[in-house]
Amino acid sequence: MGHVVDLSNAWLDHPFLRSRFRVSSQEQIAKMRRHGMRQVLVDFDKSDVRQPGSIAELAYVSHNDATPDPKDQSPPPAWNPDNLVPQELGAVLGDRRISGEGKARAVYRHSVKMMERLLEAPTAENIKAGKSAIFSVTDMILTDDQTASALLRITQHDFYTYTHSVNVGVSSLMLAKALFGQSDAHNLHELGAGFFLHDLGKVKVDPEIINKPAKLTEEEMRRMRIHPYQGCKLLQGADALSEECRVVVMEHHELMDGNGYPRRLAGEEIHIYSRICCIADVFDALTAERSYKKAMAPFDALTLMRDRMGAHFDRRLFGAFVRLYA
Ligand SMILES: [Fe+2]
Ligand SMILES: [Fe+2]
Repeated sequence: MGHVVDLSNAWLDHPFLRSRFRVSSQEQIAKMRRHGMRQVLVDFDKSDVRQPGSIAELAYVSHNDATPDPKDQSPPPAWNPDNLVPQELGAVLGDRRISGEGKARAVYRHSVKMMERLLEAPTAENIKAGKSAIFSVTDMILTDDQTASALLRITQHDFYTYTHSVNVGVSSLMLAKALFGQSDAHNLHELGAGFFLHDLGKVKVDPEIINKPAKLTEEEMRRMRIHPYQGCKLLQGADALSEECRVVVMEHHELMDGNGYPRRLAGEEIHIYSRICCIADVFDALTAERSYKKAMAPFDALTLMRDRMGAHFDRRLFGAFVRLYA
């Protein structure tokens, strides 16, 4: 026990909520065996132990055995994900010596930094530059399945709007990709921008309201409820408001039972893009740590959403969202 195992090769076909986790009980080992796993990938760099130990009941493969090109022994360059410019990010993504998870970490940290800069100074110029950066991340999510799946596993959950924006952007886009594939009927680049920028209007809301560690008063709620309008206004001012961005930014707090805001739309009145974003938005809010609450585990958050909030969500989309984390 104490080994960090990676079951991503069995991504859709194993009984654990996450594909990468630290083994902490004999029951987990028994469960892997019951599901016919003969080998598991172990990342000894991240594990508490350096030897197979109890996990030897399953054969194991060390992470290094999974290097894509065994002939290439040269170490990957020491990229600093915080300072990557887009061309360097492209080089990281194209480097076969870097694992899917390594690429995902570079993309994730790069995206969080980019959103942080954008939300700190949402000028027209920064919004346009932000959109083109999001287009590059969207390209990666649409074309590189391994790195895209790894992105879902490595997301961090803190209380910053920029981290939330990236998490919702990534998971909404993964759901859109699962639903629409590469269909020409949908502009997934503009849609990705809508997902990443869904909360742009929060820059116009008093931070004390956004970070208030208690229930908002009616007046504070009224001021919070304007962020969809404010987001659209900012995008329009930057000449960056596509139809995909408009519906997502405007409707991501609308709920299927008509109890959302700002327009109390219900059911099919809400655009499918906004219904996708709404599910990802609530999931990230539940799994994030806030000053007034602890983070929920993904499995608990999905269970709560199914059992207590089911009427808020499009049932079919929610099922597809759960499968992303299965
Ligand atoms: Fe929002
Ligand atoms: Fe949000």
